[in-house]
Amino acid sequence: MQTDSKLKQRKREDESGPALEAGDNLSIASLPTNLAINGGKPVRDTWLPYGHQVILDRDIEAVVSTLKSDWLTQGPAVKAFEKAIADYVGVRYAVAYSNGTSALHGAYFAAGIGEGDEIVTSAITFAATSNAALYLGARPVFADVAPLTGLIDPQSVEKQITAETKAIVGIDFAGQPCDYDELTAIAKKHGLPFIVDAAHSLGATYKGKAAGSQADMSTISFHPVKSITTGEGGMVLTNSKDYYEKLITFRTHGIVKDPAQLTALDAALDGPWYHEMQHLGFNYRMCDLQAALGESQMLSLNDFVQKRQSIAASYRKKLANSQYYQCAEVLPDRESSYHLFPIFVKVQPFGEKRKAVFEALHAENIGVQVHYIPTYKFPYYKALLGCDLSSQYPGTEEFYSREIGLPIFASMSEKDIDDVVAALEKIGLALLH
Ligand SMILES: Cc1ncc(COP(=O)(O)O)c(C=O)c1O
Repeated sequence: MQTDSKLKQRKREDESGPALEAGDNLSIASLPTNLAINGGKPVRDTWLPYGHQVILDRDIEAVVSTLKSDWLTQGPAVKAFEKAIADYVGVRYAVAYSNGTSALHGAYFAAGIGEGDEIVTSAITFAATSNAALYLGARPVFADVAPLTGLIDPQSVEKQITAETKAIVGIDFAGQPCDYDELTAIAKKHGLPFIVDAAHSLGATYKGKAAGSQADMSTISFHPVKSITTGEGGMVLTNSKDYYEKLITFRTHGIVKDPAQLTALDAALDGPWYHEMQHLGFNYRMCDLQAALGESQMLSLNDFVQKRQSIAASYRKKLANSQYYQCAEVLPDRESSYHLFPIFVKVQPFGEKRKAVFEALHAENIGVQVHYIPTYKFPYYKALLGCDLSSQYPGTEEFYSREIGLPIFASMSEKDIDDVVAALEKIGLALLH
């Protein structure tokens, strides 16, 4: 660790250098050089989390009014929430699920993925993207990512396709849509469904069209740190009636009640209660309390996303001249919903420097996170795959070694942003040389 006198000397040396142009209203001369991790005063007294929900009074009223209604389980509020999302995104069908993980499970089931099949996906995502394939006896095969966006690389996807591949699964990492057009073209060429894990991207756009509207199926999560929340919750979006019908039965034990869908010829003989379990499904239903919260949160979605975008713009401006950090790229033909704001350390060796910066930021009360540990690095996956795949994915490895996710959520203040930037600059000055 740096001593105070070394830090002071470094500060003096740096006062004439480019690192001083940290951003608006911030001058290095005004920053304390004594890192909190070394016993100095933290940049802020209270913990700033990397994500947080925003719940308004009207959200609370919506839940309370549902509590007073006749329906608590899946009922009219779920239908209304599904319609609100389908209308917003511009898809024919939206099927609510109990969370984003079960939504992925449902989508993979609807796509016909089963025992011995493969999906091609990215390792820079939450484990659920791959786990849901394992639930069905299928195997995730990883494609590499672009190191400055974290988005799945279409060329790498194509190389991983085999006779066993049954779907391509892209991830709208951090809220930025993946390369829909290129991935759709590859999927079409190989006769595969293209599924998007859009857990991060409700409110984002790709070439002017809503994320969630352009794949064969897209899945969303309503976990509290996402664009809007239902506590726990998820949804699958599709324009296909066939997928829709499978998604509906899968979330309810595989049970069918619609007389038109029954297979038994003697159904009428049993009586009006007759229904059939046609395949093995689950109880993956969302309840009306969650949906009432979700429908009310939809009223805030545009505002929440705009706030995230303005926080991101502020970070970009303030870090534009940093010699220590660079911001993840967002490509010009898309608008991110900024579920996350990833930055990269610029100074080698990346792994060592990233760890030091991460620990120092936590000591300053800045709740950064690393998204994500590549899925293939988990002990469970190493055992399953029979080896450590790290050397096969240079883009993923570079991304993972450098990335830090800065706090971003709709109720962050300008002061919060300044605290993050001040802590980054203070730490950069001390540790990134
Ligand atoms: C990319 C991604 N996929 C899937 C999920 C799973 O969503 P849930 O937590 O709602 O099950 C998450 C949640 O964090 C996620 O970030």
